[in-house]
Amino acid sequence: MALLIGVPKETFPGEKRVATVPDVVEKLRKLGFEVTVESGAGDAANFADDTYRAAGAEVVQTAAELFAKADIVFKVRPPTMDEVAMLREGATLIGFVWPAQNPDLMAALQARKATVLAIDCLPRQLSRAQKMDALTSMAGISGYRAVIEAANAFGRFFNGQITAAGKIPPAKVFIAGAGVAGLAAIGTAANLGAIVRANDTRAEVADQVVSLGGEFVKVDYEEEGSGGGGYAKVMSEGFQAAQRAMYAQQAKDADIIITTALIPGKPAPKLITAEMVQSMRPGSVIVDMAAEQGGNCELTVPGESVVRHGVTIVGYTDLASRLAKQSSTLYSTNLLRLTEELCKTKDGQINVNFDDDAIRGLTVIKAGELTWPAPPPKLPAAPPKPKAAAAAPAPKAHGHGAGEPMSAKSLAIVFGVGAVLFGLVGAYAPASFLQHFTVFVLACFVGYMVVWNVTPSLHTPLMSVTNAISSIIAIGALVQVAPPLDAAGATDRPNALILGLAVVALVLTAVNMFGGFAVTRRMLAMFRK
Ligand code: NAI
Repeated sequence: MALLIGVPKETFPGEKRVATVPDVVEKLRKLGFEVTVESGAGDAANFADDTYRAAGAEVVQTAAELFAKADIVFKVRPPTMDEVAMLREGATLIGFVWPAQNPDLMAALQARKATVLAIDCLPRQLSRAQKMDALTSMAGISGYRAVIEAANAFGRFFNGQITAAGKIPPAKVFIAGAGVAGLAAIGTAANLGAIVRANDTRAEVADQVVSLGGEFVKVDYEEEGSGGGGYAKVMSEGFQAAQRAMYAQQAKDADIIITTALIPGKPAPKLITAEMVQSMRPGSVIVDMAAEQGGNCELTVPGESVVRHGVTIVGYTDLASRLAKQSSTLYSTNLLRLTEELCKTKDGQINVNFDDDAIRGLTVIKAGELTWPAPPPKLPAAPPKPKAAAAAPAPKAHGHGAGEPMSAKSLAIVFGVGAVLFGLVGAYAPASFLQHFTVFVLACFVGYMVVWNVTPSLHTPLMSVTNAISSIIAIGALVQVAPPLDAAGATDRPNALILGLAVVALVLTAVNMFGGFAVTRRMLAMFRK
């Protein structure tokens, strides 16, 4: 018998997301499951009951009806105690649970003999788990929305403009904490045209900040902020004092501050003090994404937007829900990927397989038995570091395709054989041949040096080299077409065949050279916005 997945309407006040969207219903059905949705579950995210019906789901009127039927319940927010009471004994629950923060909920779920997969407990360090990483997809959306909220409260453009009515400078945005949400905020603000600066205690994110169009501002204090697993650690007093001084400077300069700094399991670090808020220009905006964990700004009121010292401080804790259609779509895709892992057989059954590190990490209760916290996943062993001496590549011989440099012995043999051959040619060849031969050998040597010593100024060194060869051909052909005058002012006109070949050579090299520049221009234009 195929298992039935139930999707209730979220009951948390103001929550607009829904755990499954109609597109995903179809895919769940293809995996062999039945899907039942509570009427109105998708209304706030713009998914009407009929769209669920069209995708093959059954729509029931009440939560009680839904919970009574469902073998598996998909939720966004942790269930309320009323919902736990309605859950069928032995049913499976998948959604955000936050077991550390909700011990009573965990006890109630255990009493129902439930199996609980907490999406917030996914071992995010496993690359295989990325497709199920709802924390990342929600944080990315929230970072984007934080910038939109800031733009809404800010009375100016983000991008600089020169208009007939005057010059408008770009807005300056400072982002504290460049994790998932912070990076999304940096990209969004930079795309809107603002000047974006960001700081994080983990120095390794500096490159990511720059690649998204921001500038990384360092704290003037040497201390590594990485606490392992991609998360930060609590910093020393000395670092914090230096960081406060830097943030105070940034606050005076910035129009908008977005704070996302957080260390899991710790209250949010207080980075923006009341004095810093006071030092900002009136009309400036702070969006404090860490509001739920106490806030990065001293004056934040969680869940509200307030004005202090002329600065709007936005402390919304439901940023992802404010983009309900987008976040529901991504969240339900994360749950679909998890379901695929649970149901490899595609027969509408699930296997909570503890040999799978990702599933083991997610499972906080199995058939009423507490299985949280999970042991850390076995990560693939890091590739061994190459030994410094052995790793240094052998210097390549000049030129291409030369491979290993010749040993002194073989070099001596080559020179010896060459000298004997030259001796034989000198002894037996006619004098006129010898003259041409000498010029030919010297020309090869000079040509080689000229071609390989050209400094590449085009986009590939190879193109520069072919252009150098073309230039030599062009000079040779020009000399043939218009031979230099002798002392008496006369020239030696070449015969028609040589003249013809020279003209053809000139045309072909011109095509090669100008074509090379044209292609380079086009390629560079592709990288310019
Ligand atoms: P994350 O863990 O990926 O990023 C946090 C970043 O803060 C890390 O890069 C860390 O190194 C940095 N950090 C820690 N202490 C710092 C310090 N003292 N100074 C500078 N940087 C510091 O977390 P993620 O997913 O980006 O979330 C960021 C925040 O946004 C969290 O507080 C999260 O709860 C919150 N959030 C809020 C939402 C809302 O609706 N308001 C929705 C989603 C996330």
